Amino acid sequence: MKNKEQNKIIREILQMKNEKNAVILAHFYQIPEIQDIADYVGDSLGLAQNARNTDAEIIVFCGVHFMAETAKILNPGKKVLIPDLMAGCSLADSCPADQFAAFIRQHPGHTVISYINCSAAVKAMSDIICTSSNAEKIVRSLPAEEKIIFAPDKNLGGYLNGLTGREMVLWNGTCEVHDIIQTEQVIKMKEENPDALLIAHPECQGVILELADYVGSTTGLLNFTIKNQAKKFIVATETGVIYQMKKSSPEKEFLIVPRDKTCSCNDCPYMKLNTVEKLYFCLLHEKPELQLSPDLIEKAGRPIRRMLSLS
Ligand code: 13P
Ligand code: SF4
Repeated sequence: MKNKEQNKIIREILQMKNEKNAVILAHFYQIPEIQDIADYVGDSLGLAQNARNTDAEIIVFCGVHFMAETAKILNPGKKVLIPDLMAGCSLADSCPADQFAAFIRQHPGHTVISYINCSAAVKAMSDIICTSSNAEKIVRSLPAEEKIIFAPDKNLGGYLNGLTGREMVLWNGTCEVHDIIQTEQVIKMKEENPDALLIAHPECQGVILELADYVGSTTGLLNFTIKNQAKKFIVATETGVIYQMKKSSPEKEFLIVPRDKTCSCNDCPYMKLNTVEKLYFCLLHEKPELQLSPDLIEKAGRPIRRMLSLS
């Protein structure tokens, strides 16, 4: 139950949003209160598409830095705000732009596909971007004989190599939230819940993806639980997505795979930096604002638009 103070803050957020002609976009890993306030909740692709299509003058992005950057790149003339500028991403951080430039030089003649979880500087060095919901389609859009670098997620890259039969060269990056999910724990949960289906985000390790009944983006996972007849799901991803799953299917049971023995959840520490209070101050002061140079916007925009035209 939300307390009176928080209800007041939420009312003021909604009022300011209308007065300032702002739109609030939120990722599925945000806390439930933020998901409820948002105009749109979705996965990386849905958020990018919504950011591209919005008429609002201000975009308040409740997610992590690379997502807000993407919104800015698609809307250079708009104000893009993020409640906490420190909301980064371990996967994006695992691919520093200078080291990635050297990696590309070591592999001449390769087309570069980058997963959207990377910095604008890495996007600017890429030929095309993908998200977890369109990655297979993007890889298959390139001729079979094309030499490809895939960055930064080696788990998603390995999974795509298996699906498509390609031998993409993989950057050695991972997400600290998904890569930590232990196979032994997943197997134990499957044994204890033989009636449950295992669903996993492709940032999980390959063995887990092989065990999974369904692999997909956060939107894909949510839709699978809505459409599938099963009554119980073991969910290998970040905890936040369970909120929409329970809302859509209150009669079904969702068991998150915990990150370790000390906790029963698997929270992304960066996503969880955003709070209702920070969202309130962000709209009030119109800060922190995401800033990018026009040159970076131009260079990083090309591979993102190429992805969107294929999605
Ligand atoms: P989705 O695009 O599937 O929502 O994934 C984003 C993300 O950061 C997963 O860790
Ligand atoms: Fe990045 Fe992982 Fe958090 Fe997603 S869950 S935002 S990939 S650190």
